[in-house]
Amino acid sequence: MALTEYTHFFKQFLTQPNAIGAVAPSSSRLARRMVDWIEWESHSVVVEFGAGSGALTSHILERVNHRHNFFAIEINPNFVATLRERFPDLKVHEDSVENVAELCRKENVESVDAVVSGLPWAAFPGELQDKFLDAMSAVLKPGGQFTTFAYISGLALPAGQRFRKRLKNHFSEVSQSRVTWRNFPPAFTYQCIK
Ligand SMILES: C[S@@+](CC[C@H](N)C(=O)[O-])C[C@H]1O[C@@H](n2cnc3c(N)ncnc32)[C@H](O)[C@@H]1O
Repeated sequence: MALTEYTHFFKQFLTQPNAIGAVAPSSSRLARRMVDWIEWESHSVVVEFGAGSGALTSHILERVNHRHNFFAIEINPNFVATLRERFPDLKVHEDSVENVAELCRKENVESVDAVVSGLPWAAFPGELQDKFLDAMSAVLKPGGQFTTFAYISGLALPAGQRFRKRLKNHFSEVSQSRVTWRNFPPAFTYQCIK
């Protein structure tokens, strides 16, 4: 990723630290760890939450083919502009993930097979974590996959702990990957099955 993209990302962080929740985009190594866990062959509908400048999106797009319906949801208009410029064929909705059910209706989709999330969960208060997880649960099919990352530095924080407990309430299986040290800050991924 070019230096200008890091600078753009950092500027967005400075304007909205709680919504962005990260000073730099995810590394390729972290993105691959998330995307490789998804069972692409058996899925058709995949949604990305909080696509940012496209660090995860570029790896998702490498796995998407004509059988998939893939769309991204991003709330920040500057990032949406970046995504549209970087990936002209990407379907991206400038909206909040809390409206995912309505966006699925627009996409003529009844349920979602997998969600790949870049949302900064540990930066959200409990009510927001619940709101977004409930919105996802309403569209994710039974057996559906959900993956997201968390910074190891956030695991000790109350919001990070709360999020882990909430995952266990929403999913039948929750597991954690090894730490990806080549990411700033180092992070692990949650891998959840509904
Ligand atoms: C930590 S950044 C991750 C960006 C990118 N996916 C990555 O991994 O580098 C979090 C992203 O979530 C977006 N976001 C935060 N709240 C959101 C919401 N309610 N709905 C959609 N996107 C949201 C932010 O604008 C930001 O782009």
